[in-house]
Amino acid sequence: MFTAADFIPNKYTSTIENGNFEWSAPSNIALVKYWGKKDNQIPANPSVSFTLNNCKTITKLGFEKRENQNSFSFDLLFEGKPKEDFKPKIQKFLERIEIYLPFLKEYHFTIDTQNTFPHSSGIASSASGMAALAMNFMSLEKKLNPEMTEDYFYQKASFLARLGSGSACRSVKGNVVVWGNQANIEGSSDFFGVEFPYAIHENFKNYQDTILLVDKGEKQVSSTVGHDLMHNHPYAERRFAQAHENLDQLITIFENGNLEDFIKVVESEALTLHAMMMTSMPYFILMKPNTLQIINAIWKFRNETQIPVCFTLDAGANVHVLYPENVSAKVLQFIKDELVVFCQNGQYICDQIGEGSIAL
Ligand code: PMV
Repeated sequence: MFTAADFIPNKYTSTIENGNFEWSAPSNIALVKYWGKKDNQIPANPSVSFTLNNCKTITKLGFEKRENQNSFSFDLLFEGKPKEDFKPKIQKFLERIEIYLPFLKEYHFTIDTQNTFPHSSGIASSASGMAALAMNFMSLEKKLNPEMTEDYFYQKASFLARLGSGSACRSVKGNVVVWGNQANIEGSSDFFGVEFPYAIHENFKNYQDTILLVDKGEKQVSSTVGHDLMHNHPYAERRFAQAHENLDQLITIFENGNLEDFIKVVESEALTLHAMMMTSMPYFILMKPNTLQIINAIWKFRNETQIPVCFTLDAGANVHVLYPENVSAKVLQFIKDELVVFCQNGQYICDQIGEGSIAL
């Protein structure tokens, strides 16, 4: 297994003057949530996510060798137009990853990025955005070091993405991705995401995620602040231990396909995440009244029909509705009939489990 030191490269064997790469990277939805971190983007607990398929960032990286090599040099375009307010985040990312990609100051970069999901939908683009950028930088590093193995390529890409935004490390490769060291998951690491290494039951094949856009506004509390509030949080230690336990349960559930047990773990994780927010100091609530309306409607529908549909939440008011492919017609009808009224402008996005980043 690679360690951080393995990602500091030796001298490169090749050179390249200019060119461009393009990658798409998907968003992901955590089943066991990452909430709380140590220094250097090390997670306080392990997490696991489904990689999404349709919600993604597409980023083209142009690069050109330059004379002055004292600072980073890049232009940032979002949907074809310069976007100054994204630049500080990229600048910080470059500073963090420079020791692992020592060539960064030797080039001028043009980063041209767009999302497939609507702008300001409340869907976090940091996971897909940072992953897409990390993939492009790895393509460039591969040109400088053509001997690089595929394993190294993907694990370092995930390692770099993590330094941009923690959950981004789960958007690189695989349907089901674990990030954070967990005793019973071989190869799991705090430094990068890895594909879940054990059996996954047919029930989870093409698992569906319909994202209900409840509130598209800017979040009142960023996840950076939220993570930080887990320091000195009264329930933190117990919560971190629970994440390990829930991952243990998911190992069994992924193997036997028991959807009833799956639902219990996933919904409990979502509500626990928000319970941590409500019990932080200062405390805060990211759910909206319509978030609760949707949760209650899902519970009622599930009770009445026995259809194994459940919800999860990320750090916001939107609801991810998760269900197996074989009930998708009935669940979509239910969503249209009973849940769309709770969505802002009736908006929702149909997605499903996907494979990870793709070179374009
Ligand atoms: O990657 P960040 O720092 O934006 O944190 C993401 C946190 C959650 O989405 C709430 C949970 C997760 O594991 O993705």
